[in-house]
Amino acid sequence: MREIAVKILREAETGRGHYQTYTVEVDDHAVVSVMTLLEKIYTTQDHTLAFFSHAACRQAACGKCMVKVNGAVKLACKEKVTGDQITLEPYSPKVVRDLLCEN
Ligand code: FES
Repeated sequence: MREIAVKILREAETGRGHYQTYTVEVDDHAVVSVMTLLEKIYTTQDHTLAFFSHAACRQAACGKCMVKVNGAVKLACKEKVTGDQITLEPYSPKVVRDLLCEN
């Protein structure tokens, strides 16, 4: 197993944004997407984390899962995680909650 440190900007919508870091374990040679990391965090560590997943296509078609990954806007379902740390932020200043933004 390898560990990935996932640093997420939370609560920017309140004006009191802060980074929270989660450690996610994945299989040594597994190719995982940002969406997979977010779902693992949500289901096993923090049920309060908000990101777009409801009705998501998960096939890079709907464009609703956009998130800033290490400073660049990407699709969470398509973007593969390569290193052992990653920073996720809302892609837009119109933050609804955590990583969830108005389209
Ligand atoms: S979930 Fe539709 S583009 Fe990512």
